[in-house]
Amino acid sequence: MNIKKIRKFMIKKLSNDKTGHDIKHIERVENNATKIIKDYDLSQSDTEIIIASILLHDIIDYKITDDIQKSTDEVIEILHKSDASNSQIDEILYIINNMSYSKNIEFKKELSLLGQIVQDADRLDAIGAIGIARTFYYGGCKSHTMYDLDNKSNKDLTEEEYKKTSNAISHFHDKLLKLKDLMNTDAAKKEAELRHKFMLEFLDAFKREITK
Ligand code: ADP
Ligand code: NI
Repeated sequence: MNIKKIRKFMIKKLSNDKTGHDIKHIERVENNATKIIKDYDLSQSDTEIIIASILLHDIIDYKITDDIQKSTDEVIEILHKSDASNSQIDEILYIINNMSYSKNIEFKKELSLLGQIVQDADRLDAIGAIGIARTFYYGGCKSHTMYDLDNKSNKDLTEEEYKKTSNAISHFHDKLLKLKDLMNTDAAKKEAELRHKFMLEFLDAFKREITK
């Protein structure tokens, strides 16, 4: 597979992103995946499927595009042009269409080991210090409020309710604090423990500082 070509496509698509799904997010996710795959003996094709999925995983997403069908067609086209086989294309599309938190709220999707690795690598970037930064950055970009003292909602949201939430602190309860227990691989579970602890410390300090 011509990974260089897929990377070029990704850079073109994400270079103006201001939602925290930018090129640096992709680089961090690749970095996380590199650490996770050390525990597995993967073929070159498997590794390429992981890298291609990471490069393309945020391009077909309602947060990034208004036209999901057009983005899907572009992703398929770039994969064909990059010499991916039909079965590789099917696997990459399955991974990127089923790995997100929101798509797994109401019904947990089965992912292959390769999909589980991509999902863990992406989810690690949603937690810890970088997860905190991305959450407020995203909220600012979407004109959400930072916190709402009256909002005590901690119930399980439906996919539609989850997509509509518009305050950064509630995103910790809606998603981020749940990710630690949803990791698939041992390396990600271990790293997630550290990042989770840091988020709890942050939330404690945040609460103390805003309480009258
Ligand atoms: P996934 O694709 O796994 O659902 P997302 O791409 O939705 O993950 O989210 C990536 C990151 O973007 C989140 O971890 C968070 O930092 C930020 N984000 C997404 N939705 C929200 C939201 N409603 N409020 C605050 N931050 C959000
Ligand atoms: Ni992502």
